[in-house]
This record gives sequence, C-alpha cells and structure tokens, in this order.
Amino acid sequence: MLNGIGNMAWLGAATLFILSLRGLSHPASARRGNLYGVTGMVIAVLATLLVTGGAGLQIALIAALMGGGLGAILARRVEMTQMPQLVAVLHSFVGLAATLIAFANFLSPKITMNGVERAIHDTEIYVGAFIGTVTFSGSIVAFLKLQGTVSGKPLVLPARHLLNAVVLGACIALGYRFVSAPDGGDALYAIIVMCVLAAALGVHLVMAIGGADMPVVVSMLNSYSGWAAAATGFMLDNDLLVTTGALVGSSGAILSYIMCRAMNRSFVSVILGGFGAVSSTACEAPQGEVVATSVDEVGSLLRDAQEVVIVPGYGMAVAQAQGTISEITRRLRALGIRVRFGIHPVAGRLPGHMNVLLAEAKVPYDIVLEMDEINDDFTSTDVVLVIGANDIVNPGAQEDAGSPIAGMPVLEVWKARTVVVSKRSMATGYAGVDNPLFYKDNTRMLFGDAKGSIDALLRQLEAA
Ligand code: TAP
Repeated sequence: MLNGIGNMAWLGAATLFILSLRGLSHPASARRGNLYGVTGMVIAVLATLLVTGGAGLQIALIAALMGGGLGAILARRVEMTQMPQLVAVLHSFVGLAATLIAFANFLSPKITMNGVERAIHDTEIYVGAFIGTVTFSGSIVAFLKLQGTVSGKPLVLPARHLLNAVVLGACIALGYRFVSAPDGGDALYAIIVMCVLAAALGVHLVMAIGGADMPVVVSMLNSYSGWAAAATGFMLDNDLLVTTGALVGSSGAILSYIMCRAMNRSFVSVILGGFGAVSSTACEAPQGEVVATSVDEVGSLLRDAQEVVIVPGYGMAVAQAQGTISEITRRLRALGIRVRFGIHPVAGRLPGHMNVLLAEAKVPYDIVLEMDEINDDFTSTDVVLVIGANDIVNPGAQEDAGSPIAGMPVLEVWKARTVVVSKRSMATGYAGVDNPLFYKDNTRMLFGDAKGSIDALLRQLEAA
C-alpha cells in the first residue's frame, strides 16, 4: 500500500520536474517552472520519508529540516553575482552525497546479493562513487576559481591528456578488482584508492580550464552532479532519483553544448582543458584615444536618437542599475524612441543572469533580444548604451587572432553610430583582456559606478 502511494507520488514528482524544465526555458514562464520544481521536490522528499521512514524517520526529518534551513539562509544571503559560486558549492554537495551513499551501500551488512546481481550492484556503487568524487573535487576547484581564491589561468601540465587517460585507466582497472574481489577488504582498498585518483582527476580537469571558459565548467559540473544522482538512484533502486538525475544530467549537458556554441568553443576541447590561456600569438594592445563623456552629453544623444540598443553586462548586476535602466527605457519609449536590449548568452556570471535582472525590473520581454536576433541591427542603431559589459562587446574576439577570447561571438556594438560605455575605469572584464572598443572613434566612455551614472542620466532625462 505504502509502496503504491510512494510510486504514484514519485511519478507525479518526475512529471513536475519535466514541467519545471519546460517552464524555465522562457522568462515569462520561469516563475511557474520554479514553482513546479519546488512542489515536485517537496512531494519527492515526503514520499521518500513515508516509504523508507521506519525507525530512521526522525533522523531523516531532522536532517531535512537542518538542510532546508541552511539552504534557505544561504539563498537569502547570497548576492546574485555570487550565484555561480553557490551553484558550484551545491554541486559539490551532490557529488559528496553520491560518494558517501556509495560507501554506505558497500558497507551495509543488510544487503546480501550473489552472482550477477551482486556484480551489477557493485558496479553501480563503484560508478556512483567515481562520478560523485570527480564532481565533488571538481566543484570545489570551480568554486575557488570563481571566488578568485585560485587563479583563473589554466594549469597546463605537460602530457596532461595522457595523465588523465592513465588515471582513468587505473580507475577502470581498480573497478574490475572491486567487482571481482573475493573479500571485502580488497574491495574496500580498491574503492578508496579509486576515490583518491578520482579526486585528483576532478581537480586536474577543472584546473586545466581557463577563466573565460568557467561558465561551461559550471554547467558541465551541473551535468556531472545529475549523473552522480542517477547512479545513486540505480544503487538505491530509486526510480525517481534515476529519472531526476538523468533530467539534470542531460539538461546540464545540453546547456554546456549551447554555451560552447555561444563562445565558439568545441565541447570536447573545453572539457579537455587548456582554453582561456593567453595564446602563443601575442595579443595586440589596443591603440587610439579614449574619449570620456558626460551625463548631459549622453542625455542629448539619447533624446536625438530613433533607435537605441542597451547592452547590459556583469557591471549592471554589481551596481544593481537594472531598475533605473527600466525607468529610462520607459521614458525613452514615451518619447517615441525605439529601445531594445541585446543579451549575450554568457553576459554576467550565470546563464540567463541579465534576463532575470531585467525581468525583475519589469522590462517587457518582447524588447529583450538574443545576440543573434540583434547583431545585424547595430548598423542602423543610433546609440548603443553598454552598461557594465566588457568581454561580450570586445571586437578583439573577431579582429585579434592572438586574443584569449578569439573566435567567441560578440555583440557587434561598434557598428552603431555612437557607443556609450558606462563603467568605472579602463579595467578589463572576466577574461582579463583589453578591449579595443573603448578606443574606437565612435565610442564615448561614461566613467563611474553604473548605478550613479544611470541615476544621473534618468534625472537629466526627466529634467529636460
Ligand atoms: P565582464 O567582461 O566581466 O565585464 C564587466 C565590466 O563591468 C568590468 O570590466 C567592470 O569594469 C564593469 N563593472 C564592474 N562593476 C561595475 C559597476 N559597479 N559599475 C559599472 N561598471 C562596473 O562582463 P560581461 O561583459 O558581462 O562578460 C561576462 C564574462 O563573464 C565573460 O567573459 C563570460 O565568459 C564570463 N562568465 C560568464 C558566466 C555566465 S554563465 N554568464 C559565468 C562565469 C563567467 P570597471 O571595473 O572598470 O568598472
């Protein structure tokens, strides 16, 4: 009876997770998608407690309350710009949980199996522990890189691919020993050595990836954490965990692929590492003069324009300038000026970062366009307002083969009549590359914190 209810609940939760993914694919339905996901997770946890509860129910409830409480505090405290770090830490938890569950399953005296059944179960344990440990150590390094504690430069060891292949080969050999070992001691030794090797592999894989490719790493680790959960599901004979893990694993892999395409990277090359390094061809230093502008000048440029495109980046998120930008958009549209937004797929620090901020600030979805939708329109644009963006508008990606971001598609803002860039200084962006855009004849630099500059611009437009 209980199992029947549990299975129905799991089916319902899996359906809600699929609906959640569908909802999250568009800003207009994202809130609903999130709600489906939360409801699915509550149902899944309650059903699992009900079915497996028994004597451990109290402990499980206390653990769920503690975990839920901690999660709520963390989520409330974290700044939107620190979200990738939080996501990386959460992935490391999934990896660690998968490894711990694998060990608990292996050491559990309750499980008595023989023959093929035993071999399959042992393989599930081993694979779960392997993926879990790679995800755990890789995510910790990703967290340290995103936080800036560890340098974003890729660690390029000699013969690193061979090294990875040898470690992988050793893990497979140990796996054979684990499954075929006649006594528990031998098997325990094999799985512990494999975990040490897998942890080193995770560290090396992520250390080899350059700062500019970190967005892909975060979504790749997301995918790994899904596969780790799916492996745990097989181990525990839990269909919901298998389904959910597979959903996370495959959606993370698809997202990584989309991001690679957006950055013109090959998926395999990013995973194998070494990208994002300063290339052997020297990167050209930008030439020309930097022209600073004022709020008054930008105000009149905007009022005289017919076509305006706003390009937000990481700095807009730091400055929290999206509310004022939304106000300015309303004001300009009221004057009959066509205002649109151009969003780069890796603008900010997490997928959809800019879309979320603009949606929060009530910018209408239909004027927020993807890079591919707006790139051809810059030639007929009067003013582009670049707010706290840098790498995503760097013409060096197209013009300088020696640039670390060479080949990455960018928003071609320099093709507009005038480009206004709001940022605090001449500092580089995430990829650490100089930006020739700032030296172009049609570029004007509006120096200062984006919130201060954009607030002043709004006041100027209101006063005029
Ligand atoms: P960035 O290239 O990082 O440039 C942001 C610029 O904002 C900086 O040059 C900074 O210049 C300026 N800024 C910072 N605080 C500011 C403030 N308070 N007011 C005004 N300006 C401010 O950002 P982007 O153009 O959005 O590109 C994103 C980069 O992050 C890419 O390289 C991408 O690969 C990487 N990345 C993306 C993701 C995802 S998934 N989106 C994840 C990790 C990394 P000043 O210091 O001079 O002000």
